[in-house]
Amino acid sequence: MSTSFDQKLFEDELSLRFEKTQLDNKDPVYEAAVYSLFSGGKRLRPAMLEMAYQLFTDADVDVCRPFQYAIEMIHSYSLIHDDLPAMDNDELRRGKACCHIAFGEATAILAGDLLLNAAYEIMTEACLAAGDKRSLSAMKVIASAAGGRGMILGQSRDLAFEKRYSVTAAEIEEMQELKTSALIRAAFLAGGILGACNADEEDLLYEFGSKLGLAFQIRDDLLDTIATTANLGKSTGKDERDNKKTYVTVLGIDRAGQRLAELSNDAKVILMKLEELAGVDTSKLRLLTDKLETRRM
Ligand code: IPE
Ligand code: IPE
Ligand code: MG
Ligand code: MG
Ligand code: MG
Repeated sequence: MSTSFDQKLFEDELSLRFEKTQLDNKDPVYEAAVYSLFSGGKRLRPAMLEMAYQLFTDADVDVCRPFQYAIEMIHSYSLIHDDLPAMDNDELRRGKACCHIAFGEATAILAGDLLLNAAYEIMTEACLAAGDKRSLSAMKVIASAAGGRGMILGQSRDLAFEKRYSVTAAEIEEMQELKTSALIRAAFLAGGILGACNADEEDLLYEFGSKLGLAFQIRDDLLDTIATTANLGKSTGKDERDNKKTYVTVLGIDRAGQRLAELSNDAKVILMKLEELAGVDTSKLRLLTDKLETRRM
């Protein structure tokens, strides 16, 4: 039933849809947003949303597209702001100059704002057109995950922890759940909701997304230490330099690796439960979990 996520098609459609939200497509803020949105991201969150959607329906991806666009645009904005001098002060993203290096700080801030607002415009239009509760629920899930119940609170904790001398493993996990798992989990939840999953299935998607999201951030933290800048496309060794509190900087590479393996395993156990409960084929999600555990970028 389900086909594979077509990244090229998704990107072409995203480009057209984003342009439609603009009055002036020559404006530098729009150019900066396009620069970041199409700079080689892995498109994991829209792929996750589509995978979850296709677990429960054969219907066309047109229904979930606007939410896929929105989640990628929110992710893209979050990275533009994450890289700013006042936050992680990065210069390199996906092997290219960060948005603020290429376009200046003020333009980069506005480019992030533009992506965030356009994401909500696109989701709202989809909700109006569909006129159903599922679309509204999907939007609510994404909005909560991106805000003060999720990513923004997590980013705030991440910055606050830089100034703390010691942080516990539990505090790190809570912060990472918020800053990273929340949006990843929202991708699975929104996909499931749009595909008409039931409440028990939604609970399992929630648990799966939580585990996978945390595993994803721990792998990101490991790569900051073990990868090379050339392979990763981001500067490395920065977490230690900036006093970031991650599993790796606080508990070391070995403990981080163990926790990553544990979380990936937990995620796959939840997939087995989902298979039993819903009679769906979760092999693609299992493969994704394995790939993310050992990813190199
Ligand atoms: C990077 O996310 C930020 C984290 C949450 C760790 P991704 O690794 O998904 O970023 P891109 O979009 O593929 O570059
Ligand atoms: C994730 O954390 C960032 C967001 C949730 C926006 P990082 O700060 O570690 O991400 P990278 O390493 O810069 O991609
Ligand atoms: Mg950060
Ligand atoms: Mg960062
Ligand atoms: Mg990182």
